[in-house]
Amino acid sequence: MGHEPPPTWAEQRTQLRDELAAIAAAGHLRRRVTIDSRGGRSVVVQEDGKRRRLVNWASNDYLGLARDLLVRNGASKALRRYGPGATAARLLSGGPRCHRRLEERLATWLGTEECLLTTTGYQANAAALVALASESETALILDRLCHASLYDGAKLSNGQLLRFKHNDLADLAHRLDQSESARRRVVVVESVYSMDGDEAPLAAIHALCRERGALLLVDEAHALGVLGPAGRGLCAELGIVPDLRTATCSKALAAQGGIIAGDRELVELVVNTGRAFIFSTAPVPAASGAAVAALDALRDREGLCGQLREASDEVRTALRKQGWNVPEGRTPIIPVIIGGEAEALALSAKLREAGHWAPAIRPPTVPTGQCRLRITVTAGHTRIDRRRLIAALGALRQA
Ligand SMILES: Cc1ncc(COP(=O)(O)O)c(C=O)c1O
Repeated sequence: MGHEPPPTWAEQRTQLRDELAAIAAAGHLRRRVTIDSRGGRSVVVQEDGKRRRLVNWASNDYLGLARDLLVRNGASKALRRYGPGATAARLLSGGPRCHRRLEERLATWLGTEECLLTTTGYQANAAALVALASESETALILDRLCHASLYDGAKLSNGQLLRFKHNDLADLAHRLDQSESARRRVVVVESVYSMDGDEAPLAAIHALCRERGALLLVDEAHALGVLGPAGRGLCAELGIVPDLRTATCSKALAAQGGIIAGDRELVELVVNTGRAFIFSTAPVPAASGAAVAALDALRDREGLCGQLREASDEVRTALRKQGWNVPEGRTPIIPVIIGGEAEALALSAKLREAGHWAPAIRPPTVPTGQCRLRITVTAGHTRIDRRRLIAALGALRQA
């Protein structure tokens, strides 16, 4: 029997074109949207050749610092002093002093021995999990709703990936039982989940890990600057010290760069084995300059986190009263769960007509049938912004 000839170049290109066409045919096509924005509060979009300003409910600029003059000055000072780019990976050519200064500030702020800055939060998770699971006898046990960067990090590692039901301690205990023969077990959770805004039962998870001798990694991307004493996150609020904490400077700190915090030895292990750190150019200096200035703002403006909490409570309570499917919570991530993709897209379009920018969140970002608007309240929104959003959603609920 003769072998089939390998597909030609043209046939392989056709396969790829068909894959994109299938995404479009299923109604899942996503496009890059260009906006003009100077910070989180509003965006300017082009509509029928005209520019239109919309209130932005889609950014993660929780503290409204993206427009803050001190934060922008922090970025421009670092740009002037250290140049536009880091020019190489840190282990290759060294890194600008502003990166080390930020790491030291973060370590002190978070109360850890050491901290490592990576180029993005995505890379922080990839580097941390690859370092923690260098051997196939490691079980990585992730909450089902963990961010894609944690799943991708687990897939890049040599460990075995197990999932447990979202926030379900009994299922986590079951996975820990199942993986008892592993040489190392690492439980991976977020403190605040990015698309639901709900919190992990972190105290109980931490206690279970201790009891069963498992390591714990907590991603605090959506909790830093939002929860805990002076915005130090949920671990700090609960007095929990996981083995590693990851986070990002790209949300409440209004900058860019991934954070890995923990004991010196573990962080140095990531420096030496976390390929996403080793083989990528360090962040731009301006990002560290901005992040340090954002930490200054958090230190100096005591009421900032409280203001955000009040604003979030106002919107969440009003939408729940209107009858929208909005789970309870205390974070600024307010999911308005709609279900179907078409319905979520239609609601987003109607809000846009009313002057609000809240794109529909669809698979693969959320599971099928759980499409939603993810309303993110920030300290940068005004009371009028919030009242207008509540009124617009109220009118759409009645329609
Ligand atoms: C929970 C979580 N972890 C990590 C990341 C990645 O952070 P970055 O955007 O800085 O790569 C994000 C968001 O993007 C996130 O939501």
